[in-house]
Amino acid sequence: MTQKITANKNVGIIGVGAYAPETVMTNSDLEKMVDTSDQWITERTGIRERRISPADVPTSELAALAAEKALADAGLTIDDMDAIIIGTSSPDMFYPSVGCLVQTRLKANRKIPAFDLQAGCSGYSYAMVVATQFIRTGMFKKVLVIGADEISKMINWQDRNTCILFGDGAGAVVLGEVDAPYGILGAFMGADGIGGELLKFPAGGTRMPATEETVRQKLHSVHMEGNEVFKFAVRVMGEAAGKALEDAGLVESDIDWLIPHQANMRIIQSAAKRLKMPMEKVIINLDRYGNTSSASIPLALDEAVRDGRIQPGNIVMMVGFGAGLTWASLVLRWGK
Ligand code: ACO
Repeated sequence: MTQKITANKNVGIIGVGAYAPETVMTNSDLEKMVDTSDQWITERTGIRERRISPADVPTSELAALAAEKALADAGLTIDDMDAIIIGTSSPDMFYPSVGCLVQTRLKANRKIPAFDLQAGCSGYSYAMVVATQFIRTGMFKKVLVIGADEISKMINWQDRNTCILFGDGAGAVVLGEVDAPYGILGAFMGADGIGGELLKFPAGGTRMPATEETVRQKLHSVHMEGNEVFKFAVRVMGEAAGKALEDAGLVESDIDWLIPHQANMRIIQSAAKRLKMPMEKVIINLDRYGNTSSASIPLALDEAVRDGRIQPGNIVMMVGFGAGLTWASLVLRWGK
């Protein structure tokens, strides 16, 4: 199945920014909390440390801080935006959406639409594909796309299977019209609800409203079948990247930089191998941030743009996967 984007207008990233909380939690810190070791975490995941948001700082604050940087990078303000879309699965609350909270935090004068897109860790990638359509069709000229998550507040800190994996952060981009040959060349999205049981946050919704019992059983936290998610991730990353390449009329060797969702180093290595990509072309920050869910790709993108690895003309492939199960990929030629 090919999901062809019918190009009317060239859409690309015209500004990028990111923000991560200052507090660092190392693997040694985790050794004091659960039965684990720095060696186990490093060998099995590649993660050495992660950032943890203060108790009184919600996802919308990280999102707004990243957005301010992306807007400054684009030389624009919030009032130049026509919409805000936020990929997140750890909103401040059920509603209002993080999108609406960010609109307020950024002191937008225009009443632009703002909404959240929940696709687990694929939230940012999904949001990018959705935002692209608005600009392609001419409905909007500029969209602020943010990936922001504070999974540290969604996990059971006594569960060593999950608590070692995640960190907090936010990354943002301004999407707008760009000149040919730059911009998004191909994209792909997919989901498999049957796999939803593998990665879920069971309680607090309408199926299992919050009760003392759900709290006692620690059902308000991420539950994951790690092994199964691992196998799914390796398979789907290669497939999703392949579909986006097909959509763009490109081949694997055209990719200059691969920015995968940063969940586990071994998943990234396996996916890179399937795509015949040398690890030098893979952008990795999970050693320092852990899995920041929807923030992971824009955080890594921001770093690679800022340190000069990504240069105008480079072909950049981004691939996300996550709860749902969901996956999405996007390939673009960097530049305005
Ligand atoms: N420290 C020490 N031992 C541990 C830890 C830990 N933190 N966690 C698990 N173990 C133990 C297990 O209990 C098990 O012990 P046993 O053999 O005595 O039963 C042993 O280590 C091996 O466990 P596995 O689960 O087989 O370990 P695996 O190599 O699969 O690694 C991991 C586990 C890191 C979770 C891996 O499966 C993984 O990364 N999966 C993908 C997770 C992922 O990507 N999640 C995010 C998806 S994106 C989103 O939307 C949120």
